[in-house]
Amino acid sequence: MQSLLRQYKTQIEHQLPTYIEPLQAPQTMKEAMLYSLQAGGKRIRPLLLLATLHTFRKPVDIGMSIACALEMIHTYSLIHDDLPSMDNDDLRRGKPTNHKVFGEANAILAGDALLTYAFQVIADDRAISPEIKVRLIAELARAAGPEGMVGGQVADLEGEGKTISLQQLEYIHRHKTGKLLQYSVRAGAILGEATEQQLALLTAFADHLGLAFQIRDDILDIEGDEQKIGKKVRSDIDNGKSTYPSLLTLNGAKRKLRDHMREARTLLDKAEIDASLLHYICDVIETRDH
Ligand code: IPE
Ligand code: IPE
Ligand code: MG
Ligand code: MG
Ligand code: MG
Repeated sequence: MQSLLRQYKTQIEHQLPTYIEPLQAPQTMKEAMLYSLQAGGKRIRPLLLLATLHTFRKPVDIGMSIACALEMIHTYSLIHDDLPSMDNDDLRRGKPTNHKVFGEANAILAGDALLTYAFQVIADDRAISPEIKVRLIAELARAAGPEGMVGGQVADLEGEGKTISLQQLEYIHRHKTGKLLQYSVRAGAILGEATEQQLALLTAFADHLGLAFQIRDDILDIEGDEQKIGKKVRSDIDNGKSTYPSLLTLNGAKRKLRDHMREARTLLDKAEIDASLLHYICDVIETRDH
């Protein structure tokens, strides 16, 4: 199980730079894009996509362009999230943040480039049928844009220094983090030719998984080890962020994490697929220390 995911991760990491290197574009920008793409990272989104494809017994190669595009969009979101005007962080994936190395303007532009190029990568994949491709592009835009990740990021900033309701916090987590994770599973299921019922169950599964993932991130901001997580701890506290621990206490957040993971696993069991690889990813997400 673990070795299969390790193999997928190696494939993703091999593939990512091959999309950037041949670009006819300014060298500094390519360096800034590659810097953050190759800084490490768990690659959880592309892995979820490939693991879902595997669950439907499809060759994972058919999802590689979408998996890499997804990682590009996620990486852009991290570059922008770390900017001084946002979370103002100096450390990411164990390295100085993009703006610390390339300057703020280049970091913004590297993020813009990764975001836009991600869609080019998918559009240029001739192995996916036009119909499925348009669907995957539209869903990715929705998951990453104003109704998805970006909307969540705005709400996250608006919640700084305020006490917000659990419902508002759930909105933030579901959007800033959940939507892209949910897309990872949906894209795998769509490419895997899931039935409508399986797709609905996996979508609900991924919703709980996405919330759980960000709750764990909030917990690690408090009790994580900087060396292991590769980013500064206590960043949320310093920024006055609304988080699960700040609203529910650390133990309350841990309980919520367990509840969402339990719901996620129950939904997965209902989908009538051999989801052992996805169950394994659930275990990783629940207990991760980085
Ligand atoms: C960090 O994402 C930001 C969140 C949405 C919680 P990851 O925890 O997936 O970060 P990397 O990709 O492994 O660096
Ligand atoms: C992550 O939220 C949201 C996105 C990057 C979209 P955080 O701000 O908590 O992520 P980290 O902790 O900086 O990785
Ligand atoms: Mg943030
Ligand atoms: Mg942040
Ligand atoms: Mg965080």
